[in-house]
This record gives sequence, C-alpha cells and structure tokens, in this order.
Amino acid sequence: MNSSPHNDQTAVPDTRTLPPPSAEEQAHSERLARRVREEVAQAGGAIPFSRFMELALYAPGLGYYAAGKHKFGDAGDFITAPELGSVFARCLARQCRQILQALADGEILEAGAGSGALAADLLLELEALGRLPERYLILELSNELRDRQAQTLRRKAPHLLKRARWLDAMPADFRGVILANELLDAMPVERFKVTDSGVRQLYVAWENDRFVWREKPAEDRIRARIEPLALSPGYTSEINFMAEAWTRSAADALKHGAMLLVDYGFPRAEYYHPQRTGGTLMCHYRHRAHDDPLVLVGLQDITAHVDFSAIAAAGTDAGLHLLGYASQAAFLIGSGLEPLMASSDPEDARAHLALTQQVKKLTSPHEMGELYKVIAFGRGVEEPLLGFSIQDRRGRL
Ligand SMILES: C[S@@+](CC[C@H](N)C(=O)[O-])C[C@H]1O[C@@H](n2cnc3c(N)ncnc32)[C@H](O)[C@@H]1O
Repeated sequence: MNSSPHNDQTAVPDTRTLPPPSAEEQAHSERLARRVREEVAQAGGAIPFSRFMELALYAPGLGYYAAGKHKFGDAGDFITAPELGSVFARCLARQCRQILQALADGEILEAGAGSGALAADLLLELEALGRLPERYLILELSNELRDRQAQTLRRKAPHLLKRARWLDAMPADFRGVILANELLDAMPVERFKVTDSGVRQLYVAWENDRFVWREKPAEDRIRARIEPLALSPGYTSEINFMAEAWTRSAADALKHGAMLLVDYGFPRAEYYHPQRTGGTLMCHYRHRAHDDPLVLVGLQDITAHVDFSAIAAAGTDAGLHLLGYASQAAFLIGSGLEPLMASSDPEDARAHLALTQQVKKLTSPHEMGELYKVIAFGRGVEEPLLGFSIQDRRGRL
C-alpha cells in the first residue's frame, strides 16, 4: 500500500480504477447519498459545493469523519505527520515549551485531533521536558474521533489522560497554545469557475442516478475575491471561507499566547497561479489520490490546499500578531530536529532507520517538507519563536 502523505498530487487515477468499496461500505455510502439528495431536493435541485462537502465529511453518523472509517495511517486512506511517528510531535513540543515558559502558565488546545496521536506524543514529550500543561483541551467535531482520541491517550499515555478535556465549542477565553495540524484543509470550501460571462459558483445536483456539477451566479463575496485576479475563462478553484472564520474565532478566543497552524498550501499569488487551472481539490481513498469529490460519498476524504494569505489576514484582522510563516522542514529544524536526531543511537539499527525515514518524509522537499507550512500568530508573546529561527517567509503572504 502506498503510504503517501495527505496532499500527494502526483497520481490522479481515473476514478474507475479505484479499488471497489465492500458491500457494507457501498450500503453506507448509499445511506449518506440519500441524506444529501433529500437536502438537494429541499433546496430546489442543487446545493453549494461547500454544503455537499460538509455533508460528505461531517453529516452526523454518516460523513467520512463522523462514521467509523479508519481514515489515518496505513490501514486508512492517507497519512498525516503525527501518524508517521513521534518526531513531529516532539519538535512541536519544544516549540510549545518555549511559549509556555514565556507565559509562565497556560494550557494547550488542539483542534481537529484526528486519531489522538499528536496529543499523546506531545504530552509525553512535554512531560520529558518538564513542561506539562495542567490541561490539554481538544476541540473535535467528530464524536467517533473523540472516542478514538481517548483510546489513543489511554493506550500511549494512560497517566496523562486525566489532563485531556474535550470541548464542544471554542472557549471564550484561552491562555496558552492553540495547535492544529491539517485542520483547515479538511474544512468545506466553495468552488468557483471563471467563465466568459463572469465568475460562477459550483453547486451539486442529482441527475441520472449520480451527483453532478451545476453552475450558478457566484455570491458577492466570491466575486469580490476572484474578479480582481483576472483569471482566464475555464479557471476553476476553491475558497475556504470556513477556515478564515475558524481562524478569526480562534484568534478571538486567544487572550494570551500563540496559535500554530500546520497545513499544506501557499500564499495567495501561488494558490491562484494562472497555471493552477483546476484548483487544489483532492480526494483520498485507500492511499489513492484523485480529483472527483462527487463519487464514493462518505467513503473518501475531500480536501483543498490552504490559502495562507487569507489565513494570515483572518488572524491579524482579529488582532493577533503574525509571528512567523515557514516551510514544515524549516520549522522542525528550528524547533530542535537536529539535536533530537543526534540523540538517536545508530547502534539500534531498527529504531535509527525508522527515525531517519520519518525525518525524510517530514522534511524532504519532495514529500512534506516544502508544501506543508507552519503559520504562527500571537497575542502578548514578544520572544521570537524557535520554529522560525532559520526561515521566516512572512513577507511572501
Ligand atoms: C485531516 S484530519 C487531521 C487530523 C489530525 N490533526 C492529524 O494530523 O492526523 C482533520 C481533523 O479535523 C477535524 N475537524 C474538521 N473541522 C473541524 C472543526 N471545525 N472543529 C474541530 N475539528 C474539526 C476532523 O474531524 C479531523 O479530526
């Protein structure tokens, strides 16, 4: 099985060549498709793509993230940095220690915690570093994943489980570090297409027993963002208004401390590069990447890259300072990757090789090192952050 990272765009197979779902998966997908069709019918024949994506991923009990599919790791559909091993979490812990030390106290809030791997490894490393926060708050949309996160903590760090608390909403006041890895890319996006008669918004309808695209006049907020870019007819891409709104709400919550968001994406000029004519929307099903979100409803992940210029504006408009923006490779090195590697014993060949492979995946420019970025915001944090000590590309946003 190919254990490619989440964003792998190298292979876009014809969806007919994807592995067929089991009878049980097929039945599950049909239940969700019925739920979507009901909403399409109630809406008069079509729903915005963002609503389709929201239902496909998060419809309670049925959506991809809300039902029992494995999702992460070799047995799932894609791999994320915390699932590769503990290196990512251990570097992030070093960055968190610096911030928690500067604040004198403070907690950690992780949003979209997936399997709970990052929570467990980060807490274990903070314990080893002598900087355990009193509480580790988790904001997670999916009830199924909340259960899985608790199981992971119980298995990997049972003595630290009591520090974890699951939240139903963003707290009004938070002091400490807000973290999210691959959260923003999993939020529903609007899709648009530039035509000779202006910017059109993409909707989803049901026709001849399948979901199909529909074009309608675009909402004002889409036109306002896209028209100034003067893109050519045919150009199709995405806008993630939900990720911007989430960043604003997290910024409002953060009264003192920092927020670190890790994801794949680019600054706006690169995101809407004239040659990126098909946008960034990708689907992942059993480690195959393809670009048709209207099939395998509820069985596959749907994701879009992040426009980091939009995220930077959302955070700073809400009063935060932009503290840094760097590639994942540079951030991990700045946060102490090299000493961490140097402490590995080459005599223990298996462990050393596993560590080396993990580091290669996390930092190689051909894998997650360059496409994945870290953006950091702060309120009341003056000290330059370790993670941006070797690279800071804020000027490109
Ligand atoms: C692509 S997964 C990444 C999981 C994990 N952070 C990792 O790196 O493996 C996206 C995660 O974000 C969660 N999620 C999506 N939207 C959310 C929201 N608005 N609030 C909290 N969690 C959300 C999903 O349920 C899932 O746990």
